[in-house]
Amino acid sequence: MKYTVPTVLALGVGGMFALTQVAPPDETMRYAQAMRDLRFVEDTLVRPGVSGQFATVVQVAESGRDAFATVEAFWAGRGDAVAADIAASGLVAVEAVLGAARNGDRSGVEAATAQIGATCTACHDVHRVRLPDGTSRIR
Ligand code: HEC
Repeated sequence: MKYTVPTVLALGVGGMFALTQVAPPDETMRYAQAMRDLRFVEDTLVRPGVSGQFATVVQVAESGRDAFATVEAFWAGRGDAVAADIAASGLVAVEAVLGAARNGDRSGVEAATAQIGATCTACHDVHRVRLPDGTSRIR
C-alpha cells in the first residue's frame, strides 16, 4: 500500500474510532473511501458541460452506485434506518442519472444530480461532525 496523504488521514481517522470504539477502523476507512468516491461523483457531475457528456456521466455515476451501497450497508448495520434510507435514495438518484444519460436527456441528468447532492446534505447535517483540523467523523 502506498501511504498517500488521504491514506494517512484515513489511518488517523481510523485510529480515533478505534479509541472511541465507534466502529472498527477498517469499516471506518471503507466508509471514508466511499465518501471520497461520492465527492468525486458529485464534483464531476456538477462540473459545467459534463451533464451533456453522457459516456462520462455513465462511467462516473456507476462508481457512485458502489459507494452508496457501502454507505447504506454501514447504516443498516448500525440499525439506523433513517440514514440507510437516505443512502438508498442516493442509489435511486444514481440510477436516475444513469437512465437519463442513456436516454441522452441532459436536463434529466442535471435534475437527478441535484437529487444525489440533496442526500449528501441530508445526511451530513445529522451524522457528520466537522473537526477543527478540517477532517470529519461519524456521529
Ligand atoms: C447516509 C449518510 C451520508 C450520506 C448519504 C453522505 N455522507 Fe458524506 N459523510 C457522512 C459522514 C457520517 C461523514 C463523516 C465521516 C468521515 O469523514 O469519514 C461523511 C464525510 C464525508 C466526506 C469526508 C470524507 C473523509 O475524507 O473523511 C466527504 C468528502 C463526503 N462525506 C462527501 C459526500 C458526498 C459528496 C455525498 C453525496 C453524494 C455524501 N458524502 C453523502 C455521511 C454521509
